Amino acid sequence: MREGHEGTGPGAITPDGCAVELYTRLPVGDEPEVIAGVAPAGARILELGSGVGRMTHPLIERGFTVTAVDESAAMLERVRGARTICGPIEELDLGERFDVVLLASFLVHTGDPEVRRGILRTCLRHVADDGFVLIQREGEDYHTNVPRERVDPRGFTVRVVSAEPVGDGVDSVFVEYLFPDGVWTQTFRARPLTREQFEEALGEAGLAVDRYLTEDRMWVKAVPAVPAG
Ligand SMILES: C[S@@+](CC[C@H](N)C(=O)[O-])C[C@H]1O[C@@H](n2cnc3c(N)ncnc32)[C@H](O)[C@@H]1O
Repeated sequence: MREGHEGTGPGAITPDGCAVELYTRLPVGDEPEVIAGVAPAGARILELGSGVGRMTHPLIERGFTVTAVDESAAMLERVRGARTICGPIEELDLGERFDVVLLASFLVHTGDPEVRRGILRTCLRHVADDGFVLIQREGEDYHTNVPRERVDPRGFTVRVVSAEPVGDGVDSVFVEYLFPDGVWTQTFRARPLTREQFEEALGEAGLAVDRYLTEDRMWVKAVPAVPAG
C-alpha cells in the first residue's frame, strides 16, 4: 500500500486504497464529454490511472484510441478495447508520444511532492509537441466542505466524512461509498493546491496552463512550456 492509503470492502484494493469492485459499479460522470469536447477526433489518448476503465470505455466508444495505465493489475483486468500498461505512473517511459495525456481523478493532488513531480514529468514525456495534457483538479472546497454527501438517484451514497491535516499541507481524506448490498471506504492523502500552487507545480515539470476548460477550473488543458524533446 502507498503510505497513508487504505481501503475496506469486498474485493481487491489498490495500493492507493481504491476498491476494484466499487469502481466497476460507479457510473461515469461528465468526464468523457469534457474530454471529447477538446480532444481532436480519433486522438490517441494516454490515460493515467485508468482503473477499471470507467472513462476508458466511453472514450473508446467515441472513437478514441486509448492506452490505459494503472499500477493495479486487478483494475486493468476489467479494461476492454484498450492497450493496458501496469505500473506506477511516475516511472512510465513508453518512448512514445500521444495527442492527449489524461491525468484525471485528482491524481495531481497526490500528497507526496516527489510522486507529483514524477507524474507530471510522465505527462510531459509522453505528450506530442502539438498535443496537450488534460488534468482534472479538485474543486475549491473539496477539503473544507466536510462532512458532505451525495445521494445518487441510482441507489448509492458517497459521503466524504473527513479531511484531517497530517502535516506538510497534506490532508488524510476518508470517504464512504454506501450501496444497499455493500459498503466500501477509502482513506487517502491529498494535498489541496490553490490555483497558484497548481500552476507552479506544472511549471516545475515543464508544463503550462493553456486554458481552464470549465468555470470551476477543475478541468485544465496544459501544454509543454517549451517544446518537449
Ligand atoms: C480513484 S481511482 C480512479 C480510476 C479511474 N480514473 C476512474 O475515474 O474510474 C484511481 C486509480 O489510479 C490508480 N493509481 C493511483 N495512483 C497511481 C500511480 N501513482 N501510478 C499508477 N496508478 C495509480 C489506482 O490504482 C486507481 O486504479
